[in-house]
Amino acid sequence: MNVLVTGGMGYIGSHTCVELTNIGHNPIIIDNLSNSKPEVQDKIEKITGKRPVFYEGDVADKSLLNKIFTDNKIEAVIHFAGYKAVGESVEKPLMYYRNNIGNTVALCEVMTEFNCKNIIFSSSATVYGAPKSVPINEDFELHCTNPYGRTKYMIEEILRDLYISDNTWNITLLRYFNPIGAHDSGLIGEDPQGIPNNLMPYIMKVALGELPCLNVFGNDYNTHDGTGVRDYIHVVDLAKGHIKALENLNGMSVYNLGTGTGYSVLDLVKAFEKENNIKVPYEIKGRRPGDIDSCFANPDKALKELGWKAELNVEQMCSSVWKYAQNYINKK
Ligand code: NAD
Ligand code: UFG
Repeated sequence: MNVLVTGGMGYIGSHTCVELTNIGHNPIIIDNLSNSKPEVQDKIEKITGKRPVFYEGDVADKSLLNKIFTDNKIEAVIHFAGYKAVGESVEKPLMYYRNNIGNTVALCEVMTEFNCKNIIFSSSATVYGAPKSVPINEDFELHCTNPYGRTKYMIEEILRDLYISDNTWNITLLRYFNPIGAHDSGLIGEDPQGIPNNLMPYIMKVALGELPCLNVFGNDYNTHDGTGVRDYIHVVDLAKGHIKALENLNGMSVYNLGTGTGYSVLDLVKAFEKENNIKVPYEIKGRRPGDIDSCFANPDKALKELGWKAELNVEQMCSSVWKYAQNYINKK
């Protein structure tokens, strides 16, 4: 199957291109490289033995999308392209609304013209805001607390409206919990620019000696050790979730992709230290505005309907990040 992967040079997209290729599909990537590097194409080829087709450009460029759909018989789209930094979205909301929402509308318009009505969309657990309880089910009420989260919520609503208007579409919304980890080749992983906002990339940079110590944002949460609890999911499991979603596209669906288990900040630090035999110095600081105690999925619906469940454990997440990080130092 020819699958258009928007944002396919990015963190989750590149791992998904590997999994698509491994089972004989052809990923066709569009990416403007705003948050990724061109060498990812070579790395996907190195891992899979097959070079993915790559169009450098913006999803907003409808003439490029027209060309891609004309040149290739696209049967489905996995739509990763978008901006994802919560803090930046508060500072530059219009940039987020234009890039995330505007581009999704352009993409769906071109898909309609070419009668390609199969789409998987990267949503996020952020749409649950502060959930009333954990684990989180897909039918929980949605609340967004920042412009990034609102783009995900609004795109979900736009895709629902599209389905209501034409139920020949097949639309799957995947709500990711906290993706971490890297491919076990050590070739692809998360490569944050500047000072990372998210926990695992920060731990990686402290372990590499690029940052002096991890700031733990709060130890007075209502959790087993007082630090925030999240559902960390290995990016390779997440990528495989997209394959299952592709194989089961049928009408309008929404799934949580998480492990169902929560780990605290300190649990993750200790697991990283133990698995990689390296110290990660940390200091307890005040809470980060907007953070919540606990967020983890009920992933049962994905198991029941897609036959998918996360297989890789937190030790494998930590060791794969460190392997990738060391490749990354060797490259410098
Ligand atoms: P990423 O930044 O690594 O990948 C996104 C890719 O899209 C990048 O390669 C970037 O260059 C590209 N891109 C952005 N805007 C584009 C545009 N207009 N046209 C073409 N390419 C464009 O991010 P990721 O972590 O791989 O996330 C992928 C998707 O999953 C995003 O939509 C993100 O919001 C969502 N998501 C990510 C997380 C997470 O923690 N990583 C959690 C939940 C949801
Ligand atoms: N944390 C620290 N220090 C840091 C970074 C994070 O203590 O330097 C803590 C946070 O307070 C939180 C936990 O580590 O308790 C996880 O924080 P992340 O920033 O890694 O992840 P979040 O759960 O806050 O949010 C991420 C993405 C969101 C997405 C959400 C669910 O940033 O966009 O996962 O998918 F919506």
